[in-house]
Amino acid sequence: QIVHLEDYRPTDFVLERVDLTFELDPKETKVEARLIFHRREGANPSAPLVLDGDELTMTGLLLDQEEIPAALYDVLDDTLTIRGLPETAPFEITVTTVLSPESNTKLMGLYRTSNVYCTQCEAEGFRRITYFPDRPDVLAVYTVNIIADKATAPLLLSNGNYLGGADLGDGRHFASWFDPHPKPSYLFALVAGDLGVVEDKFMTASGREVALKIYVEHGKEPRAAYAMDALKRAMKWDEEVFGREYDLDIFMIVAVSDFNMGAMENKGLNVFNDKYVLADPETATDTDYANIEAIIAHEYFHNWTGNRITCRDWFQLCLKEGLTVYRDHEFSADMRSRVVKRIAEVRHLKSEQFPEDAGPLAHPVRPAQYREINNFYTTTVYEKGSEVTRMIATILGRDLFKKGMDLYFDRHDGQAVTIEDFIACFEDASGRDLSQFSLWYEQAGTPLVSASGSYDTAAQTFTLALEQTVPPTPGQSAKRPMHIPLRVGLLLEDGSEATLKRASGADVTGDVIHLTERRQTVVFSGIPSRPVPSFNRGFSAPINVHIEQSAEDRALIARHEVDLFARWQALNAMALDNLVEAAGEARGARPITCDELLVEGLLAAAGDDRLEPAFRSQVLSLPSEADIAREIGHDNDPDAIQAGRQAILSAIAASGRSTFERLADDMALPGPFRPDATSAGQRSLRNAALSYLVYGDGRPERAADAFHSANNMTDLSLALTLLAQRFPDAEETAEALAAFKKRFADNALVIDKWFAIQATIPGPATLERVKTLMSDPLFNASNPNRVRSLVGTYAFSNPTGFNRADGEGYRFLARQILAIDPRNPQLAARILTSMRSWRSLEQTRAEHARGALKEIAAASSLSADVSDIVERMLQDE
Ligand code: ARG
Ligand code: ZN
Repeated sequence: QIVHLEDYRPTDFVLERVDLTFELDPKETKVEARLIFHRREGANPSAPLVLDGDELTMTGLLLDQEEIPAALYDVLDDTLTIRGLPETAPFEITVTTVLSPESNTKLMGLYRTSNVYCTQCEAEGFRRITYFPDRPDVLAVYTVNIIADKATAPLLLSNGNYLGGADLGDGRHFASWFDPHPKPSYLFALVAGDLGVVEDKFMTASGREVALKIYVEHGKEPRAAYAMDALKRAMKWDEEVFGREYDLDIFMIVAVSDFNMGAMENKGLNVFNDKYVLADPETATDTDYANIEAIIAHEYFHNWTGNRITCRDWFQLCLKEGLTVYRDHEFSADMRSRVVKRIAEVRHLKSEQFPEDAGPLAHPVRPAQYREINNFYTTTVYEKGSEVTRMIATILGRDLFKKGMDLYFDRHDGQAVTIEDFIACFEDASGRDLSQFSLWYEQAGTPLVSASGSYDTAAQTFTLALEQTVPPTPGQSAKRPMHIPLRVGLLLEDGSEATLKRASGADVTGDVIHLTERRQTVVFSGIPSRPVPSFNRGFSAPINVHIEQSAEDRALIARHEVDLFARWQALNAMALDNLVEAAGEARGARPITCDELLVEGLLAAAGDDRLEPAFRSQVLSLPSEADIAREIGHDNDPDAIQAGRQAILSAIAASGRSTFERLADDMALPGPFRPDATSAGQRSLRNAALSYLVYGDGRPERAADAFHSANNMTDLSLALTLLAQRFPDAEETAEALAAFKKRFADNALVIDKWFAIQATIPGPATLERVKTLMSDPLFNASNPNRVRSLVGTYAFSNPTGFNRADGEGYRFLARQILAIDPRNPQLAARILTSMRSWRSLEQTRAEHARGALKEIAAASSLSADVSDIVERMLQDE
């Protein structure tokens, strides 16, 4: 059952109001849903009402409080159809269903986690609670009554504002909530249980006081302080930068330990994976802190981009996700270092989205069809979606972008809209035609821009010849040229920047070249000497750039570009060239050569005290093995890639020893741990230096010392990672792993790290270790975080361990997928995407991978989630 974008049509019935009453019980929860509908004007007067359902048991069905005769309705697997409904008058349907939250292992709909009732409804989970028009364009006002045992569920929460509650005298109590903002069912939430709370308040710009509450397991309250701080900063930032105020009396966040995704933006009641709420110095890394800040902000920002203005249908998912990721990126950039944040975004985009775009799972930012919508919560929809929003801001400029956003909020508040509606706001605000630009939403695949420059000494002109190609992707063989905003700089020999004076060719505004045709040139005049072009400054477009550029030219950019992102980009490109070559040399058993200019460039930047430590640390962090594999693109041998990379690392470690020694000292942070970006940057540079030193030593002592002297989780986990990855069999490593496990045995989020670190140990022996770890008493196959930390990390983040030449890694994964799928299809499908680049492996491994995928495909009773992924991965086989 494939759903197509072009088949969209509005419902025949308009839903006015929803009244829900839950009588909670772990095994037998009763849900009564009273739904008031009327037939849409102009709709077929005899059309039946068709409601969605999924694994429901219905115990009652009334029309205006009268039982509906069996002849007038049909219950199928996933629909309830009711006929003979009033032609014009409003009517009330009452549906009663009975659910077992404790046996809901899919974690969609109403489920139990650590004795707490909780819900996840996006995208299609509400239909697992009651029969309902479960689609995002059906907006209604909800009242929710919750009845539960007072002792085990003293806390009863739902969306909106609290109306009141009372003791029922029989050991139970109830609470009522009313959400005045019309919303789609995917934003419904209910939480009930016994939780601790951290409270604060926020005064909005217009002077309304909002109560803020973060609910966590008892005893974990102190670990929610950073999340609360991030929330208040996010609320303030959204007022200042986007002019958006919060709109209810209360904003709540609940942290739960069993959750399929990161978090969920339910109106007024966000539910979070506790990994993205809980932090303290002893247990959270700097990366954890940064993720918490970003995700707290992301979910909060959805209140306007997602909730007040929502999606017409799930094809428009990027309307809320791409835009909201863009907003959280901008927030983090303002809270931290803009350039370091940008580098991190681009690293993430390239390592996660580019491979998706280049493989069998490639799809447009706005897909035109899907079988299982859960499989489209992807880095393409989220991260490329954010980049597309960023390009609109680049093309229009800050002021017109702001004008377009204001128009969007103004025009579409309270509506369920489309990408076309969104784009129209920017067109109307700016007077620009964005129709060609909109291809970014329709065409999958990462565009490649090839560039070559020629300098005319006599005329003092520099001509850039640009060519764009968008590779074919599943279902899209031919592509049209896109509008690519390419920020460039022309650097002169002395490192200064030439003024960009366009003489002819493609449009240029400021430093942005607007590439709109397949082939285009642009001529710049008044250039006094041969310039070195710096392309895609700030990563203005999510593309690959191909340009023949010497290491000398790249080194010039790395030293002098005013755009610091471009400096990092130049060094990264230099490193990547060298690493690709090294992989080839390793594979051919030839000696591996390390580019002197690369080493010089890296060490110069790393040792430059005028640059912020976090940036210098980014420079030192070489492209990963996966980055190298992606750059090579085909016939990949992960072992050769790793051998080549290790040789380069050793060469840098040897040449840079004194620099690294100095950095390890200079960057030490005396005093108590502080999670701010500057301190985090220093730690990061110090740990980068330490990593090279340990690499150079070839012995575990230094890493073991670092492990024993660490006073925070960032340093501790880095030291443990170095020990495990470099010296997996050393006594020091075994001791450190045991000490770590013992110390944190009752902290699930830290134990996740313990599993994950071991899953990344390179080499074929790790498979046995992973299997052994699966029978560790601390392993828990029903907790998604735990499964991801061991099985997910092994498959996604261990190129040589997972891609064993004998294919055992793939066969192991296939068995795990088949074991996870029956209980949690979303989790299984997500982990399976780790094989998305299987076709770019060398032949033997690719054969094994194909075999494992076929084994999955051949299994009986696969979920829609897994069969959709596996079939797309095997397409054309
Ligand atoms: N809307 C959530 C977020 O990005 C993600 C929820 C995804 N849920 C799912 N079942 N696919 O903030
Ligand atoms: Zn989101």
